[in-house]
Amino acid sequence: MSENPLDRPTTDHLDPQVFVDYLEKTRWFGGKGRPFEVTAVHRIGQVPGCVDAGPAVVDHLVELTYGDAEGGTETYQVPLAFYVEAESRLDHAFVGWWEEPDRGWVHAYDALHDREAMACWLRSFVAAADDAVSGPTGLTFHRLPGHELDPDVTASLFSGEQSNSSVKFGEDSIMKLFRKVTPGANPDVTVHRALTGAGSTDVAALYGWMSWTDEQGEEYHLAMLQQFLRTATDGWDLALTSVRDLFAEGDLHAHEVGGDFAGESERLGLTLRVVHELLREHFPAERRGPEATRALAGAMRARLDAALEVVPELAQHADALRAAYDRVAALDGVDVQQVHGDLHLGQTLRTAKGWKIVDFEGEPAKPLHERVEPDSPWRDVAGMLRSFDYAPRVVEKQSVDLAEDDAEAAAQLAYRAEEWAHRNRNHFLTAYADGEPSDEAKVLLAAYVADKAVYETVYETRNRPGWVSIPLEAVARIGAA
Ligand SMILES: Nc1ncnc2c1ncn2[C@@H]1O[C@H](COP(=O)(O)OP(=O)(O)O)[C@@H](O)[C@H]1O
Ligand SMILES: [Mg+2]
Repeated sequence: MSENPLDRPTTDHLDPQVFVDYLEKTRWFGGKGRPFEVTAVHRIGQVPGCVDAGPAVVDHLVELTYGDAEGGTETYQVPLAFYVEAESRLDHAFVGWWEEPDRGWVHAYDALHDREAMACWLRSFVAAADDAVSGPTGLTFHRLPGHELDPDVTASLFSGEQSNSSVKFGEDSIMKLFRKVTPGANPDVTVHRALTGAGSTDVAALYGWMSWTDEQGEEYHLAMLQQFLRTATDGWDLALTSVRDLFAEGDLHAHEVGGDFAGESERLGLTLRVVHELLREHFPAERRGPEATRALAGAMRARLDAALEVVPELAQHADALRAAYDRVAALDGVDVQQVHGDLHLGQTLRTAKGWKIVDFEGEPAKPLHERVEPDSPWRDVAGMLRSFDYAPRVVEKQSVDLAEDDAEAAAQLAYRAEEWAHRNRNHFLTAYADGEPSDEAKVLLAAYVADKAVYETVYETRNRPGWVSIPLEAVARIGAA
């Protein structure tokens, strides 16, 4: 692995404005539509596995500052592949170029789209088999024992790209590159590491990760390599398919339809229970007293107050919601532990060997120090229950659009949507709680469900106004209960 001469030019040559244009084009950039400026571009290191014949791959952290009232700064990770000749196959991933005195134009591309660049990345993980391998400028590749990586497989960008970018290496492993980064251990890495170490089969095994340490000695987790689950189907997609099966069978009940999901919901509940138990064993867990339950209720009340500004329709249910939060404040304590933090059906995968839970990064919008705080496991359960409510209602919306003007058909769909939601929520919850949850658990769960539905009303009002009735109806049901 020689040093590629292209590593020498620095991005001082690359106009920071090119990152503005590129970020706006990507799926994963969280600040789209907001005014921002790129305030710094840090070239943090070359990927050590590069070869002379290929590109130089250099990782960058791009710091940006928002110019709106909310303001704030964020840091995004953008690995670049440098080529002397233009690579037309990578046109869609072109970031910028500059002229080198002796060499002509150097072209920079988003490295995640380039299989040559990703081959360097894979070689770096392969080389780290026995010991952590560091690049000349500080990127460090770590591996866990127990899995041989095949260095010769082809890399391809995973199409499900959302808040991060994932690259698949053959059918063997998948690397998730964290886009928005902050100093500190990423719970996606630490949780997968602990669960893999414990021999868990409920998550994709962790194979390795990449870190970098800045001048102040702060460590960043920048990427994670794990088992690629070949036979996986997304839990959300499976749930939608099951609902469509039910809707297609005009006269049958959910339990009579071929695509009944209740068995899956039950197995998913068991899976989450086992994962929570393992997290309780491997991370700090404790019982917190009444000051913690009051603080939790206070945070929920504050979120409701903020939501009322955005969604005035919530006002008629505000008293009922506050009553649910008051019941939390009156509890004498709450058990907290490491949780998933952002659990919904889209974070679950059904494989030939059962359900797997993915993406332990927590809620991306929250700062890292909040995401690693121990929390009540009922928050995760509530996330799943809301997801079981969303799935049939999303299909219902699509179907009602088709059967417009037919009030009877619409009422029938709504009835059946509730039937599906009720059945699957119950099967999931009974399996998770191994029977009836305790009174304390019921109070916490009801409040977390309400809190989540309130959050959803804000999200939908801002992003998908056509869907806001889904969480609003859930809030109304809480009010009626
Ligand atoms: N180990 C894996 N094997 C196969 N597919 C996976 C694996 N991990 C994640 N995925 C798929 O990639 C998608 C995104 O992964 P996720 O970890 O949720 O990333 P993000 O942080 O971008 O949401 C998931 O919804 C899932 O469909
Ligand atoms: Mg995800």
